[in-house]
Amino acid sequence: MKRLIPFALLLLSPTAAFAEAEDKELWISLGSDALAPLSEAFVREGWKAPAPSMSKEDVVVIPVRESQLSRIAEIMHDQFNRCAGFVTFESRDEAEQSLVPEPLVPSQELITYTIDNAAAVNCMANAVTEANVRSTINSLAAYTTRYYTSTTGVSAANWLRSRWATLASGRTDITTELFTHAAWAQPSVILTIRGTTLPNEVVVVGGHLDSTSSGSTAPGADDNASGIASFTEVIRAAVACNYRPQRTVKFMGYAAEEVGLRGSKEIAAYHKNNGINVVGVLQLDMTNYRGTSADVGIVTDYTNSAQNTFLRNLIATYFSTTISHVNTTCGYACSDHASWTNAGFAASIPHEAVVSQGNPYIHTTGDTIAKSGGTANHALKFSKLAAAFVAELAK
Ligand code: BES
Ligand code: ZN
Repeated sequence: MKRLIPFALLLLSPTAAFAEAEDKELWISLGSDALAPLSEAFVREGWKAPAPSMSKEDVVVIPVRESQLSRIAEIMHDQFNRCAGFVTFESRDEAEQSLVPEPLVPSQELITYTIDNAAAVNCMANAVTEANVRSTINSLAAYTTRYYTSTTGVSAANWLRSRWATLASGRTDITTELFTHAAWAQPSVILTIRGTTLPNEVVVVGGHLDSTSSGSTAPGADDNASGIASFTEVIRAAVACNYRPQRTVKFMGYAAEEVGLRGSKEIAAYHKNNGINVVGVLQLDMTNYRGTSADVGIVTDYTNSAQNTFLRNLIATYFSTTISHVNTTCGYACSDHASWTNAGFAASIPHEAVVSQGNPYIHTTGDTIAKSGGTANHALKFSKLAAAFVAELAK
């Protein structure tokens, strides 16, 4: 609800009054263990300590102002060695409802996973190249920031859309679009390959295209230019192999992940509310920093265990000598896969390492490709895995 601004205040300080009026109330959910340190930090900032409206098991819901979000993200990051996440909601109702887990949408229980499309997998997995993945990482990381409210954050999304459109030119079954969000400037980007025989069944591969703080440079080379680059190369390979999926495949670059999964939350809600049959979702967030001897950390929380098993089987079938994996957990809704999981869809996130041993430079000015040895060798493994996921799930 809009608050009235006293006329006297308008006369005294028009800009401050308008800034206040536009500073929307939002609601965030976060781990209860973060509440006390966050309250102390709020007081240090000169803000009122947060008052939870609801708490359940180990999660609480608190009201905040939109202008506080980026500082909250920094506080959470500084205070917890893990990046203690929070999820942002537009209303109190929506935030409180999120604490009640969504059952799988009924069609999800009928999905069967088979592995028998070696020709398509091998063509695409052999077509992907390190140089192309590196080039996309460098293009995205060159924007000063991809923060969701920044002009460069909007430009980066537009650049991605035109890059994808170029890759798909010549294919009338492939379209690209911007998914705009009413509450902020940066759009999400979606490329759709229409399915040949099962166009109403949808396979999603996505990752966030935004980066952090609008204040200084936020190259986000690993978080998450790398994930976007890994699957952008799958798009190129799909065209090079003249791959025509039976199911529809949608590649998605989500806006506004770093401020509480906001872009993906709207997109998952759109699919759910329109009864779109999303068969499976693969999230790529941070793919280019080899933090552990195992190549891939399969995140087992806020994900679908049957689909995670499918991922392990894909690796065993196609990449047993080149990609190793281990289980890991985030401990919270750490990326956009959780938006899909919370909406009742099957989602997985193969990560660059065991979560606690991933890239320590994320969310800083130092998140550059140099920290990954200047190559995209690690991210390329995720291109291969994503190619296999698409070829075997969208057939
Ligand atoms: N890429 C991170 C999530 C991540 C970090 C996954 C480390 C695995 C290991 C993501 O962009 C992020 O920063 N998420 C936030 C939470 C989000 C709900 C704002 C975080 O982790 O604090
Ligand atoms: Zn991040």
